[in-house]
Amino acid sequence: MSLLFEPLALRDISAPNRVWMAPMCQYSAPAEGPDTGAPGEWHFQHLASRAAGGTGLVLTEATAVVPEGRISPWDLGIWNDTQAAAFRRITAFLRELGAVPGIQLAHAGRKASSARPWDTPGGSLPADHPLAWQSVAPSDVAFGAMTAPTELSVDQIGETVRRFAEAAERALAAGFQVAEIHGAHGYLVHEFLSPYSNHRTDAYGGPIENRMRFALEVTEAVRAVWPDELPLFFRVSATDWIDEGGWTADDTVLLAKELQARGVDLLDVSTGGNVPDARIPVEPHYQVPFATRVRSEAGLATAAVGLITDPHQAEQILASGEADAVLLGRELLRNPYWARHAAAALGHALPKLDQYARA
Ligand SMILES: Cc1cc2nc3c(=O)[nH]c(=O)nc-3n(C[C@H](O)[C@H](O)[C@H](O)COP(=O)(O)O)c2cc1C
Repeated sequence: MSLLFEPLALRDISAPNRVWMAPMCQYSAPAEGPDTGAPGEWHFQHLASRAAGGTGLVLTEATAVVPEGRISPWDLGIWNDTQAAAFRRITAFLRELGAVPGIQLAHAGRKASSARPWDTPGGSLPADHPLAWQSVAPSDVAFGAMTAPTELSVDQIGETVRRFAEAAERALAAGFQVAEIHGAHGYLVHEFLSPYSNHRTDAYGGPIENRMRFALEVTEAVRAVWPDELPLFFRVSATDWIDEGGWTADDTVLLAKELQARGVDLLDVSTGGNVPDARIPVEPHYQVPFATRVRSEAGLATAAVGLITDPHQAEQILASGEADAVLLGRELLRNPYWARHAAAALGHALPKLDQYARA
């Protein structure tokens, strides 16, 4: 029996298997007009084709809780009801295909107002670009060569926490069954966690208890409106990959315990993204040990992600107790049917799609 294709129950939701799609920005939403930030045909096919491919749980790309929290002007958002309504068709179809629809709730912080990567990789939009805006962050420190953000006031922090909760309420109305708070990759929540990007001297900066405050407030606010029956995930960057002055794996274990106490059901364990010149030893499996530490030391369920491409490798991660599920990103872009091929390779029969049965 393959573990990869064993269901995973979290609260009242059961993912039919443990092959899940990682959030991936598509930079394909309208950047202007009444449908700004609303999913369209591109997002429908992007998410639905992975569900048709047998992926058990499908996460949307980083979906902004406020307009200024978009990474780029072309990101998805869920700060208004038009956007929420546009998601309904997608969540309904994912559920019809047997997949659990999840949404990643996000604020890009100092990495907001970026260009599309195929236009200017990793760069801010020029300040005079008609679609650019002023980014915000815990401190007015730029990420590399990007435009410097302005520092959030305590009132603005409180408002941002509320907007995360309002976005979660809309996500529920839109039919999502999992919400994931984006606390990774050098975006706003991660910027507060890491001393590398958080230089505040008030209650939100300094010791780790203060740096975790924003993440924990967001978690509490989202959990308060997200029904008890539905799972809540949190994506973390488990390390900044610098020797000193950054967020560490030990910090992640502590955070995991605090998140679990506040009703987080699974930690989605990524790394990096907050330090432009960090040296990251990228190779297959390289982020899995961080998921394993959280699972064994905090006792929280985890999903491993990063260069997981082979069915036997994925099965081994679960069989050896390193994680509870795997998230695939780029491999699913290359092959939306990865889960079906993996099931065949592991001797498991996924329910057939009637329409494609002859293949
Ligand atoms: C095109 C693209 C867009 C991405 N967008 C997001 C995102 O919106 N949110 C996020 O947390 N990670 C994002 N990521 C990171 C992926 O979720 C994943 O963690 C990463 O690609 C490593 O997994 P992989 O080796 O299976 O691709 C993105 C990755 C790619 C390739």
